[in-house]
Amino acid sequence: MKKIIVTGGAGFIGSHVVRRMVNTYLDYEIINLDKLTYAGNLENLKDIEGRPNYRFVKGDIVDAEFINKLFEEERPDGIIHLAAESHVDRSISDPSAFVMTNVIGTVNLLNAARSTWEGAYDQHRFYHVSTDEVYGALGAEGFFTEETSYDPHSPYSASKASSDHFVRAYGDTYGLDIVISNCSNNYGSHHFPEKLIPLAINNIKHRRPIPIYGKGENVRDWLWVEDHARAIDLIYHQATSGATYNIGGHNEWTNIDLIQLLCRVMDQKLGRSEGESAKLITYVTDRAGHDLRYAIDSSKLQKDLGWKPSITFEEGLEKTVDWFLENEEWLERVTSGQYLDYYKQQYKG
Ligand code: NAD
Ligand code: DAU
Repeated sequence: MKKIIVTGGAGFIGSHVVRRMVNTYLDYEIINLDKLTYAGNLENLKDIEGRPNYRFVKGDIVDAEFINKLFEEERPDGIIHLAAESHVDRSISDPSAFVMTNVIGTVNLLNAARSTWEGAYDQHRFYHVSTDEVYGALGAEGFFTEETSYDPHSPYSASKASSDHFVRAYGDTYGLDIVISNCSNNYGSHHFPEKLIPLAINNIKHRRPIPIYGKGENVRDWLWVEDHARAIDLIYHQATSGATYNIGGHNEWTNIDLIQLLCRVMDQKLGRSEGESAKLITYVTDRAGHDLRYAIDSSKLQKDLGWKPSITFEEGLEKTVDWFLENEEWLERVTSGQYLDYYKQQYKG
């Protein structure tokens, strides 16, 4: 029986990866290692919590002693590492938490993998899940490829870039079998409502202002989270050692166009007259160091592993809105407590 540790499995993307692995590989044991920060929520995995091939372990990847002990005891075959502080705005107000989890936490996992798997590196895989933000910002033209130089601008992307470098360095220096993927913006069910799409869905529902940073001209390349989870599964199983893959949907939207579309979908779903929700759009102070445009060239992944996005953005957005409207309790619970304090500080009220 193969044993895989998935870190950050209680978060947005991690929960989709865990669900996919548990449902697809009945002969694997999937261990979800998560600290359960404000972003981690075991409710995301309610549907699989009783499965015999799934286990949750609460723990902090920054705690080296705990991580070493866990690796010694469990002796996993591989790791899919998603645990991270993931929100750019939070990294601007508190960079240190990002250094601790994203850099130190990743190095702790690499050290544990290095000593536990010594002598058999070719039989174990360290998969590091990263972001397109490490590449910096594009102008109006061009795409990020796997060869694009790193040029991170936010404390978040700097911490992810640093962790990518450490993962590659452990591959080159010690011979660990590593793979890295850099994905564009995800959206879908269980997305924490500090990020643009779920935040806007929640605000539209409650007829609250939809905050758009700057002029809303920044471009993001959106991918349905289940397509990301499927890419991770493929890459974990089929990529050659040391490989990097970019993952993205060729689906670029300016923030304002995206929010206009979302408002139209929400008007329909909520039985509002056309244009009603768009009146909530409110331009606010821009994010510091706001990257203008991200766009991924995923042709290597398409060519090598036959991956491509399974649904259009319009379909995915509608599914996402439906999920949020059908799961009001989930949304109510995650928008209470700590998150409300953050919201007040970020948007001044
Ligand atoms: P998320 O914030 O929703 O979830 C992060 C998870 O990590 C949470 O469950 C949290 O409890 C856990 N965690 C945080 N600190 C931890 C620690 N010290 N020890 C153990 N667990 C800890 O994040 P997400 O959006 O699901 O992103 C997952 C990964 O994918 C991250 O590495 C992120 O950089 C990367 N990524 C995200 C996107 C995106 O659009 N969201 C795109 C590309 C890459
Ligand atoms: O590109 C991949 C990255 O996508 C991941 O690595 C990050 O973990 C993930 O959070 C996401 O980062 P972004 O900063 O692009 O996502 P966010 O949803 O925070 O913002 C999307 C765009 O919307 C961005 O241009 C900023 C803008 N925005 C965001 C918020 C929260 C607004 O205009 N208003 C808002 O209130």
